Amino acid sequence: MAQRIKDTVQWFPGHMAKTRREIEQNLKLVDAVTEIRDARLPESSKNPDIDSIIANKPRIILLNKADYADDAATQKWIDYYKQKGIWALAVDCKLGKGLNAYLPLVRRVLADTIEKNNKKGMSGKPLRIMVVGIPNVGKSSFINRMAKNSKAKVANMPGVTRANQWFVIGKGVELLDTPGVLWPKFEDKEIGDKLAFTGAVKNDVIDSETMAIRLIDYIKNYYADRLCQRYKLDSIDGKQSWEILEMIGKKRGMLISGGEIDYERASVMLLDEFKKGKLGKFTFEMPEDY
Ligand code: G4P
Repeated sequence: MAQRIKDTVQWFPGHMAKTRREIEQNLKLVDAVTEIRDARLPESSKNPDIDSIIANKPRIILLNKADYADDAATQKWIDYYKQKGIWALAVDCKLGKGLNAYLPLVRRVLADTIEKNNKKGMSGKPLRIMVVGIPNVGKSSFINRMAKNSKAKVANMPGVTRANQWFVIGKGVELLDTPGVLWPKFEDKEIGDKLAFTGAVKNDVIDSETMAIRLIDYIKNYYADRLCQRYKLDSIDGKQSWEILEMIGKKRGMLISGGEIDYERASVMLLDEFKKGKLGKFTFEMPEDY
């Protein structure tokens, strides 16, 4: 099950087990977990074992890259998680949008812990949090954003083998500087596709043309008008995805000798423009499908 993610991370069973062990060790040091997911694919961008890894720790889900996602869909997801008893927040860690609500939410989620600490006469005990998420979802961006406002870096904790550093990110709230990097469920083709479309994983196995056609398959079902707007297509009603790709290539003048469409170039362009958000805000999955 070796898969290539962001050039560097290789997942294989031994590596996954080791990662899981490390995260479980760090979980013993914290009061809560902030799990980062991609707002465009809140379920596909999670780790398949996340619930058992986090177990009973209080959790906040950050729906990151909300700037790329459909706002109405993001709100639906927030409501969906709330119904399940999990707080979620829509954020853009690149620009820091939505993060003002993070610390108040931490205190709300950890209200019982705060009360217990107070009762034990330990009201000064910091609330500690660790960040987890799949590669490329925005873990470092989040930590950097929060640490930027951090006044002090707390020294290493005695007795902890790994050199854990803690950032004070608010009065009485500390964040572990090292995120837990988890694997997505890439053996599922549909999930793999969505992760590749959004740039979460690199798909070196499938050629660009196939990927572009799969992307059009998705877009034309839910957001057909976006394709028409972006590429000035008259109508794509009843068209096959490869025909739409052809129309896009034609409009952009992507031809090879003999006037044939350069499918490869058109595909790379479409995939790239999609990733950069040029086709507008997209959400690939809705709570009602889960
Ligand atoms: P990681 O630690 O979980 O692996 O993710 P990291 O923070 O490195 O973020 C991965 C990429 O996603 C980064 O782009 C980062 O700027 C971008 N990113 C993170 N949060 C957001 C967000 O809320 N909105 C948007 N639009 N982008 C976000 P990068 O490495 O610079 O790659 P690229 O931007 O050049 O493609």
